[in-house]
Amino acid sequence: MNIVILLGAPGSGKGTVAGKLAAENANLKHVSSGDLLRGAVAKGTPSGIEAKGFMEAGKLVPDALIAQMIKDVVAETTGDVTMLLDGFPRNLAQAKILEEMGAPVKSAVLIDVPDEIIQDRIAGRRTCPKCKAGYHVKNLPPKVEGICDVCGAELTIRKDDNPDTVKDRLVVYHGETEPLIKFYEDKGVLKTVVGTDPIDTVAKNFIAVM
Ligand code: AP5
Ligand code: MG
Repeated sequence: MNIVILLGAPGSGKGTVAGKLAAENANLKHVSSGDLLRGAVAKGTPSGIEAKGFMEAGKLVPDALIAQMIKDVVAETTGDVTMLLDGFPRNLAQAKILEEMGAPVKSAVLIDVPDEIIQDRIAGRRTCPKCKAGYHVKNLPPKVEGICDVCGAELTIRKDDNPDTVKDRLVVYHGETEPLIKFYEDKGVLKTVVGTDPIDTVAKNFIAVM
């Protein structure tokens, strides 16, 4: 097992690209820290109860809480698999925790999207609460409005996708997550793809550099 980290602002397309590539390649596994946390919140587990307020405020949840979830997934992933790790690490402390887990990081790929585009991306996002598939009302609409193509569930808007919380999430991204770009550059594993191209192009470029 090895790891490819997806770096990028909220709404840059991490989940869209990783979900698409994992659906098309049997040896790729998409692991989204946000989906793990939203799952825990929905189930009302102790971790979910602790995480909920941080997530709704657009703040990072405590490092130890999310690190334990990622450790569990890393431990259960074996064989000829590349894990597309979406949303973790989110700061330098988490990057060090990931190193201590011992799983080799093959590359860290930045999906580069300017802030001006982010609000529109997130305002149009619709998410399947059941199978986690992602859509956009204009850029990636479902076949039937409001209904998931994959599992037929009713699409929802994420609680943290209101414009004020998105602003806060961007501040957190630039302050806490962006330093990881230099961290992985210094390790010689950073790659960058243009994130404003059409989704299929971004996915094709991503798999070519990862
Ligand atoms: P998380 O779920 O990770 O959210 P995020 O990083 O803010 O990223 P998003 O999921 O919003 O964006 P994305 O890049 O996946 O974009 P998407 O593909 O959907 O985290 C949520 C919260 O959980 C955090 O705020 C924090 O509280 C907590 N958390 C998570 N991980 C944590 C950690 N490690 N430590 C601490 N706390 C943590 O695309 C967006 C939209 O654009 C979609 O509608 C899509 O269809 C569309 N789109 C995508 N690509 C394109 C394209 N190329 N062209 C046009 N439209 C596109
Ligand atoms: Mg996502």
